[in-house]
Amino acid sequence: MSKKPIEIHGYAIVSDDDRIAGADGLIPPSLRNDKDWEQYQAALARSDLVVFARVSHENEPNTRGDPRVVLSREAKGLERRADAWWWNPADVNWSEVVERILPDGGEVAAPGGQGVFDLFLAIGYDVFHLARARGVRLPGGRAVFSECGETLSAEGVLTKYGLRHAERIELDATQQVEMNIWRRASAR
Ligand SMILES: NC(=O)c1ccc[n+]([C@@H]2O[C@H](COP(=O)([O-])OP(=O)(O)OC[C@H]3O[C@@H](n4cnc5c(N)ncnc54)[C@H](OP(=O)(O)O)[C@@H]3O)[C@@H](O)[C@H]2O)c1
Repeated sequence: MSKKPIEIHGYAIVSDDDRIAGADGLIPPSLRNDKDWEQYQAALARSDLVVFARVSHENEPNTRGDPRVVLSREAKGLERRADAWWWNPADVNWSEVVERILPDGGEVAAPGGQGVFDLFLAIGYDVFHLARARGVRLPGGRAVFSECGETLSAEGVLTKYGLRHAERIELDATQQVEMNIWRRASAR
């Protein structure tokens, strides 16, 4: 059987000020949208591997039993635990993770939080699905990328790391939620 390429997809819903969570570290109801959730869950379900950071993993338990990797500094290398694979990137690099868990290649979903979003900026996204709840601001909240700030928006960070805006979809006009698809500008 021929090997499929590894394709990395990021998924986030952000506020106007590029936050994935409020100052309390939680996702507020204003960042929740049924249409976005439905599409996001369908994407995770069809992915060959889902990579969460530890807090996000705890907030979104693996009820479907998807193949899942959890990023944690407490993990020893790459460990198989009852609920998922646990991975410390300081010990084991991404190509070794792929070799062990996805030897035939496939689609990888990176749904955050910030630790995972940052990590895959460096590894390289093929596609980033950036949903935005317009009119929502979360001062002091958690940014989608640690590089987001006064001068750099989420779009600025994606552009800096080689992605280009490809498509805008109005997901929910009533709740003012839109989806923007960003794709890698050139082959790796
Ligand atoms: N709006 C959205 O689209 C969206 C998406 C994802 C998450 N969220 C929400 O955002 C909030 C949490 O996000 P967060 O960014 O604070 O937490 P997070 O990134 O989900 O989890 C942080 C933890 O992940 C581990 N980690 C992060 N970077 C690492 C690295 N480079 N190497 C090894 N381990 C690493 C560490 O775990 P250890 O402490 O075990 O070492 C760290 O404490 C939650 O409420 C979550 O539900 C929202």
